[in-house]
Amino acid sequence: MALFAAIGILSGCVHPRPHAQQAQDAASAAANIQAAWVEIGANGQAIARVVTQWDTAQGGDAACPLLHVDGSSARMSLRVAAGTMPLRPTASAAVDSKPSAFPVSVCEASLPTNAHQADVAGRPLPLPKAEPQRILVLADTGCRMKKADNVYQACNDLAAWPFATIVATAAGFEPDLVLHVGDYHYRENPCPSDIAGCRNSPWGYGWDTWQADFFTPAARLLSKAPWIVVRGNHEECKRAGQGWFRLLDPHPYAETRSCNNPVNDEQANYSEPYAVALGGGSQLIVFDSAKAHKTALEPGDAQFQIYQKQFQSVAALAAKPGISTTIFTNHHQILAFSPIAGTQMVPGTQSLQSVMRSLNGQAYYPQGIQVALHAHVHSFQAINFASDHPATIVSGNGGDNIEVALPDPLPTDAAPAPGTVIDKVAHHNSFGFMLMERRAAPASGWTFKAYTAAGKLLTTCVQNDRTLSCDKTGFIAP
Ligand SMILES: [Fe+2]
Repeated sequence: MALFAAIGILSGCVHPRPHAQQAQDAASAAANIQAAWVEIGANGQAIARVVTQWDTAQGGDAACPLLHVDGSSARMSLRVAAGTMPLRPTASAAVDSKPSAFPVSVCEASLPTNAHQADVAGRPLPLPKAEPQRILVLADTGCRMKKADNVYQACNDLAAWPFATIVATAAGFEPDLVLHVGDYHYRENPCPSDIAGCRNSPWGYGWDTWQADFFTPAARLLSKAPWIVVRGNHEECKRAGQGWFRLLDPHPYAETRSCNNPVNDEQANYSEPYAVALGGGSQLIVFDSAKAHKTALEPGDAQFQIYQKQFQSVAALAAKPGISTTIFTNHHQILAFSPIAGTQMVPGTQSLQSVMRSLNGQAYYPQGIQVALHAHVHSFQAINFASDHPATIVSGNGGDNIEVALPDPLPTDAAPAPGTVIDKVAHHNSFGFMLMERRAAPASGWTFKAYTAAGKLLTTCVQNDRTLSCDKTGFIAP
């Protein structure tokens, strides 16, 4: 990835181009740009990305549009060129899979931290704020088409798959930042001809499906604020991993980290955790649990060893001086519940718990983490512990089929992991999203507000250190 700063803004070696010339640049024609957004990666680096259908015989960066920042222009760098990837083993049988076609190139450029204005192909890009006040949280947003479960959501019906409604409502809250906690892509197998609700939907792991399941419905929020993107299990290599690395992963693209060749899956199914400063003494730590097993791991397991090292990195990031609120975020719930219709609940993800226990015993998290934020379970849960554990929130109700409700009240002995004691839980199973708002000084920390897809406030939870106090508890009807 070329640093925009390195190729012109600071060195002054690129002369500002008048807009008349920009209009003549074919690679920068608005009609070529399929998506444009800004995401925040490791160390808080803001990265501008575009998906373009422009292709030239020259290839390389010539496929990419000019990015204009504060009056200067530079061509974006090619992240990965258009191409169709040979069929690889997927989560489905070969007969229900197909090669992943990406007839679009992805371009990118790092944005200087002090940028005031940026645009590409006539589209203004949202720039990060040093101290975001409102952070929009959503997850598990795609429309399920999965043969193995015989589940086909009505992707053409806004009531059955309300992601576009959620985006429209959420954009109205004028967020400074958007956090997606994973699972962007759900249309894995073809819609059967006798099911009207998903008729004519694209399927498989190529661009057409990514566009329908994520980029088109999310466009309004992508233009509104920069995003932080967490990887879900749907983005592991046997599923939508190829699109994850081309489109969303915030690290540099590499063939070994592309999910194209399954011999590299052991590497590409994991990513180093990183921190993003939120200003005002808050930070977010992003963890990739895409491949986390359901069951506990043995210390000899390769996954145990990878995650153990990564949780050691998390502890080091959380120990950063001057930070009063560290929010740890990953896709799979850790100290939260997964309901099952007609039975009791399943506790948190055993593989992650087993690794965390090896480092911190039944504290699970290092002391420096105040809040844990997850998805994967398609509901909202806000948990305050009587034991010394981080306030835990699950916000996975962004579009895919919703879960049954948790039992209400919870069984008195309900615990998401050995050694944890629940104080109170607020939960609901309506489609929706969450808004984090920074608490006014002298308080530190955040309030967490759960909304329905239509924007009805269901509960407000105030965080103070590791405690979370919600104005409602138990099951919340919409
Ligand atoms: Fe998930």
